[in-house]
Amino acid sequence: MPPKKTLNQTKTWSSRFNEPVADLVKQFTASVSFDRRLADYDIIGSIAHSRMLADQEIISETDYVEIKNGLEKIQKEIKKGDFEWSIDAEDVHLNIEKRLIELIGEAGKKLHTGRSRNDQVATDIRLYLREAVHETADRINNLQLALVKLASENINTIMPGFTHLQVAQPITFGHHLMAYYEMLKRDKERLIDCEKRVNTLPLGGAALAGTSYNIKPEKVAIALGFNRICNNSLDSVSDRDFAIEYCSFSAILLMHLSRICEEIVLWMTPNFQFITLPDRLCTGSSIMPQKKNPDVPELVRGKTGRVNGNLIALLTLMKSQPLAYNKDNQEDKEPLFDSVDTVLTSLIIFEQLINGIKVNSARMKEAVKKGHATATDLADSLVKKGVSFREAHGIVANVVHYAESQNIELADLPLKKLREFCPMIDNSIKKSLSILSSVNSKNHIGGTSPQQVGNAIQSAKLELEEFSIMQKKKSMF
Ligand code: ARG
Repeated sequence: MPPKKTLNQTKTWSSRFNEPVADLVKQFTASVSFDRRLADYDIIGSIAHSRMLADQEIISETDYVEIKNGLEKIQKEIKKGDFEWSIDAEDVHLNIEKRLIELIGEAGKKLHTGRSRNDQVATDIRLYLREAVHETADRINNLQLALVKLASENINTIMPGFTHLQVAQPITFGHHLMAYYEMLKRDKERLIDCEKRVNTLPLGGAALAGTSYNIKPEKVAIALGFNRICNNSLDSVSDRDFAIEYCSFSAILLMHLSRICEEIVLWMTPNFQFITLPDRLCTGSSIMPQKKNPDVPELVRGKTGRVNGNLIALLTLMKSQPLAYNKDNQEDKEPLFDSVDTVLTSLIIFEQLINGIKVNSARMKEAVKKGHATATDLADSLVKKGVSFREAHGIVANVVHYAESQNIELADLPLKKLREFCPMIDNSIKKSLSILSSVNSKNHIGGTSPQQVGNAIQSAKLELEEFSIMQKKKSMF
């Protein structure tokens, strides 16, 4: 018999060691302070794993019942805040296992049969992320609904469309809002697409090579609602590409939100005054009593930085890691959690922001009257009379040059004056200079005419309705 250890060892794996782990190393390597957030997923994963072990007669039915009851008790303790987390037990997995053994003894020691923390943690994160994906999709859908509602109230609200932030052509505010609807639609598609890869079960990969027990991961997959199981144990325990995909989706989503944030900030300035936000969604200044600041859109815009950072953190974490699991992967959680939290709070507050927007249509209309916004319409009308576009462009550029020198808007020039530049200009062409006719004329799919925007809104409403029905069906499993 080898001599029995007398060291005061506290770690599950410490019997192999000749001296206790240094406190600093214990603190440095422990993840329980942040991975305890996975506790619920860890428990449901363990219940499914032990059910399969019993089905496969690897453990007895009595062991399974004891494990299940013990884990459910632990779940309640955690919920009530009665659970004592300790860094001696390193992470969420070992904390729960330790408590299980305290509660039920021998049967608890069998839970870890045929698995490793490597496939366990990968399973936990996937379960966590699957739920986060579902919630994120719901939130995007709600935000899209808010955009569509505001757009439908503004099908006929005319505003300047900008390029280079200079007045370009008249558009409707409804059309402008629906552009963001489209961006979010693509974001939601990206999110739902990554769900397939998130929803794949790694359990069974064990430490890296699989396990010699007669396990049936398919059964665990069914019990936990996974669509499929990972095909390669080395890959399953080591890759975090599914989390990187969520972070990449988040970075793109926040980039899109940051664009509308920027516009909201601009639209609220005294120079624009296109919209106002209710006081409850703004903040004041500690020194300037007159200020009402758009802190919320500014903050969401600012949060783009952290979600970009999280994406880069995970990409860098995964880069050059040799197969299979390495402790580097413990660093996957905080960036992922942070991206999920940031995305969810940003989406929730953004929905309120959009619902709170009050539109100042008079100011929008006033703004579109400056900047010769219908110059392209004048050129297009000449083209329709047989002038080549390049020539028409030249004629109108001369008209604009003249109007500028007179400090007058193109649309306000009398017909007589216009004809001096091109005798083909007649009354019907002059009419094309009106803002309303400009907007109405962009009447094709994707155009800004109220009719087209109305159609886009109708299809959007259907899409959103279908999506929420699909989400509800999914959550029934
Ligand atoms: N806390 C670890 C993590 O988050 C769990 C896996 C530990 N595996 C190991 N071989 N040390 O990655």
